[in-house]
Amino acid sequence: MATPSAPADCSPPLMILLLLLVFLPLAVSCGDDGSGGYDVVSLTQSGSALSARLELVLAGETPADAALGAGAQRLCLTASLETDSRLRVRITDGDRPRWEVPQDIIPRPAPEDDLHNAPPASSTPLQGSRVLSAAGSDLVLTVHASPFRFTVSRRSTGDVLFDTAPGLVFRDKYLEVTSALPAGRASLYGLGEQTKGSFRLRHNDTFTLWNADIGAAHVDVNLYGAHPFYMDVRPPGAAHGVLLLSSNGMDVLYGGSYVTYKVIGGVLDFYFFAGPSPLAVVDQYTQLIGRPAPMPYWSLPVPVRVPERV
Ligand SMILES: *[C@@H]1O[C@H](CO)[C@@H](O)[C@H](O)[C@H]1NC(C)=O
Repeated sequence: MATPSAPADCSPPLMILLLLLVFLPLAVSCGDDGSGGYDVVSLTQSGSALSARLELVLAGETPADAALGAGAQRLCLTASLETDSRLRVRITDGDRPRWEVPQDIIPRPAPEDDLHNAPPASSTPLQGSRVLSAAGSDLVLTVHASPFRFTVSRRSTGDVLFDTAPGLVFRDKYLEVTSALPAGRASLYGLGEQTKGSFRLRHNDTFTLWNADIGAAHVDVNLYGAHPFYMDVRPPGAAHGVLLLSSNGMDVLYGGSYVTYKVIGGVLDFYFFAGPSPLAVVDQYTQLIGRPAPMPYWSLPVPVRVPERV
């Protein structure tokens, strides 16, 4: 799908941010009450790819909802096992293009799009669920039709890695999706550059991905870098990675038993990396986004002067 040349929702004006601050709590409560969300109305599958059309389940719209822009009536989901260790699940507006990270920033395979060959969507939701898997892949995707949600699991252990709740929000200026996590077993690392007290993310913390030029001497603030990526290491040591490929501002709420993405624009373009070692996750991740440049050894012992305390 083409990316718009003038990404109106990439750098939202201050007014939108102010509106968000005022209306976010209201919007969240309406995502949580079970209303809204989407149903799958058609789905086609070929080999290691799947595409589906989703339709908005009509729900009462409050003024707070309207402030977040029109809700997308139709969504387009494409999912594919791009390599043996990488699953992509991409959800876009079915009627119009939206801002996405440009191809020249991160060159990547175009999403599989079988929708043109799909049978006409019926207005009645599909029943049950569909599974996408491949012999060489440890990742399995399950798409639940009504209400729409999806699950990513590890074939070799049966462990559920990502499990979205019904009630996906996809509005012009606000996207929200929540996945359940096993609070006692998941250990998350990542989610932007910030000054938290530990590398392992702590429960009930919010990670703001909004790059800011703030000195790292301050605690609990967001800094320069914002990769919406986390690694989850679970006993007895299997790790996987989750990337939401988005350059839009977002908050990620990590509650221990869940992770919620609240994004102001763009699309939902998730990549799951199978690992299973942490090193393999980083290898699979940087295979997609690009390897870091090697540093010359002579540059490493950078003389850093620590200010003397008086
Ligand atoms: C996180 O919040 C939940 C709900 O308020 C609470 O039950 C839990 O104890 C909190 N966990 C931590 C580590 O603070």
